[in-house]
Amino acid sequence: MLEIINVSKQVDGKPILENINLNVQKGKCIGLIGPNGAGKSTIIKLISALEKPSSGQINFMGKNVQGWSVKKLAKHMAVLTQEGLAPYPITVYDSVLMGRYPHLGFFKGKVSMTMI
Ligand SMILES: Nc1ncnc2c1ncn2[C@@H]1O[C@H](COP(=O)(O)OP(=O)(O)OP(=O)(O)O)[C@@H](O)[C@H]1O
Ligand SMILES: [Mg+2]
Repeated sequence: MLEIINVSKQVDGKPILENINLNVQKGKCIGLIGPNGAGKSTIIKLISALEKPSSGQINFMGKNVQGWSVKKLAKHMAVLTQEGLAPYPITVYDSVLMGRYPHLGFFKGKVSMTMI
């Protein structure tokens, strides 16, 4: 389902991740743990194609995530970033609903959230 193959990431010449390999089978629930600055958020950004690896490849459902259209990938993958959701109060329910946004049709996209 998810294959991380020899992935490395450098930022401004500084190595952040080096030769990461991981295979996750469909239906598995995994946790990624490590000390601050270990690269957990970086690997999530690479998996969700928000950033590109410096080398190596990440395949999701047999296809390089860099080759997925943003909308198609968003239908299969939801990411809640550490940086926070929005500069206004939002319920847990609404934040989970955001993951359904890419499944809405063009006109339904305008009416979705319950603002409080
Ligand atoms: N855009 C960036 N520019 C420069 N350095 C970065 C950038 N993004 C991440 N880093 C560096 O990469 C390393 C890994 O950062 P990352 O945020 O992935 O770690 P983390 O495991 O998620 O940490 P935390 O537990 O604090 O959330 C850190 O040394 C960080 O300073
Ligand atoms: Mg992090």
